[in-house]
Amino acid sequence: MSGFSAPGCGTLRAADVGRRVELYGWVARRRDHGGLIFCDLRDRSGRVQVTFNPATAPAAHATAEGLRAEYVVRVGGTVQRRPEGSENRALATGEVEVAAVELEVLSVSRTPPFPIDGEREPEESVRLRYRYLDLRRQRMQHILEVRHRVNRITRDYFDRLGFREVETPILTKATPEGARDFLVPSRLYPGRFYALPQSPQQMKQLLMVAGVQRYYQIARCLRDEDLRADRAAEFTQLDLECSFCDEEDIFEVIEGWIAELWREILGVEVARPWPRLSMSESLLRYGTDKPDLRCELEIADVGEAVARTEARVLRSALEAGGVARALAVPGGMDMSRRELAELEALARGAGGAGLTWLPGPLDRHLSLEEQARLQEAAGARPGDRLLLVADRKRRAERVMGLLRQEVARRRGLVKEGAWRFCWIYPMMLFEEDDQGNLTYGHHPFTRPMEQDLHLVEERPYEVRAHAYDFVCNGYELGSGSLRIHDRALQERVFEILGLEAETIRSRFGHLLEAFEYGVPPHGGIAPGLDRIVMLLCGTDNIRDVVAFPKTQSMQDLMMDAPSPVDPAQLRELHIQVAPEAVSGALPRP
Ligand code: AMO
Repeated sequence: MSGFSAPGCGTLRAADVGRRVELYGWVARRRDHGGLIFCDLRDRSGRVQVTFNPATAPAAHATAEGLRAEYVVRVGGTVQRRPEGSENRALATGEVEVAAVELEVLSVSRTPPFPIDGEREPEESVRLRYRYLDLRRQRMQHILEVRHRVNRITRDYFDRLGFREVETPILTKATPEGARDFLVPSRLYPGRFYALPQSPQQMKQLLMVAGVQRYYQIARCLRDEDLRADRAAEFTQLDLECSFCDEEDIFEVIEGWIAELWREILGVEVARPWPRLSMSESLLRYGTDKPDLRCELEIADVGEAVARTEARVLRSALEAGGVARALAVPGGMDMSRRELAELEALARGAGGAGLTWLPGPLDRHLSLEEQARLQEAAGARPGDRLLLVADRKRRAERVMGLLRQEVARRRGLVKEGAWRFCWIYPMMLFEEDDQGNLTYGHHPFTRPMEQDLHLVEERPYEVRAHAYDFVCNGYELGSGSLRIHDRALQERVFEILGLEAETIRSRFGHLLEAFEYGVPPHGGIAPGLDRIVMLLCGTDNIRDVVAFPKTQSMQDLMMDAPSPVDPAQLRELHIQVAPEAVSGALPRP
């Protein structure tokens, strides 16, 4: 028996009527109609109805009486047109059915924990515990297929452009991408560890020194960080790097690739070239570095308009060096007191000092002239309501960004079905971390803009970088930069980041040494493939697009990982587990 070349259950059509077929698949549903037994047979291509007639195929009919959901069977029979009036328009194979002559049960099944073809999505912890059943569902098969096609189109595209796929190690040394490393203990060298790659960043730069010139890889990255809906600990990048390029080359390559994916998979033409926003512009106008441009609302800086105001809420923030930002809500005069209070709670929940609005509590503290100036600065039209935040700059931006998103959602201002890509460029070389310390914006290998180099020591926060992100519909899809290829400049940047000479030597000595042997100027980018597949499949959960994902609390519910290991294994690795950490059962999600 071989069903390897059998037609897919979901592929049969009216044109196949009369054809003798052998089908292999799972029993999706069985109905006993007195005499006839109807059975829906499913495989990854879809479903088809099979009929068992006691008069014409008594043996097959007798076996069919014992069929249950998820039994695996082989059916031999003839494709026939369904009787007039019993066609099923909702099913691709709905015009036909297979009249069975033969039936063989290849494997039986227990009652599954959820119906595979049920209308309702099972609970996620059950889906993950029985992922092999979850993946049988049509929606999940579709996602797996899209992901496969994305990889194939990607490989073809980059091959056409002369990129070479090179694999880089999984057991390596930490490369800083701002997350915690996963470590692997070395058996041969007690007390030493490999780090799993947060990305192949240093390897791809070393490949440029190695003369590869155009590199790409569908690369697994591992980061021990807090997980979110669009963030996994283990994820995949389309990692790429090229020599002798500038950012225009990278933009063109990426736009062409995305356009090809969207065309092939969704049949959509993505408008090009994509608009570009500097980081500061994006933070000002959209309150975020990953703006959802499907909504046209824009935040305005109204500091000038209220510079001399008597209104205490605004004045105290401005005097403390803060900013005033406003969002004009179209037709927002109709917002209820309750709606405004909810937005205020959202602002406070995000750590903001508060929220005020006009018309509203602010009216009596502002002169009519000030009110008019405010409306104008915010671009408000008659009937609009102004939402106002005065706070420290970073907080005001974040709060306004959340408000913009929430207002857009509540008032239906997000254009569904649209794809709005943009570049965030340029970005800053350094940023302030949560403790107020200087840190890198993208990563420490990013090249500063030549014209800002003189500011590096004195006013580092003003230095722009050859760094870029691309964003679509509120998701950061990819991030990259041109790199430093000059040893002295790279050392200077490490020093400004506060790295000691010894740390620089031990962590990055290999890179600095390589830079002494002729380095081509180079740059690259790494789009997140999981997020791209999420968009292409219309899901907002990254776990949906990964075959075997971990939960948000980092457990593999199917394999039950992480798990304790044999003490002998630990001894071999020279590892002793602290007594207070000795593991019991994992907490259930
Ligand atoms: P970065 O760290 O910005 O850059 O990552 C690039 C892209 O990878 C995706 N991504 C993630 N996707 C899912 N889960 C995560 N935890 C996660 N973290 C990142 C995002 C992001 O835009 N080496 C540099 C790239 C370069 O400079 O070329 C890097 O890794 O889509």
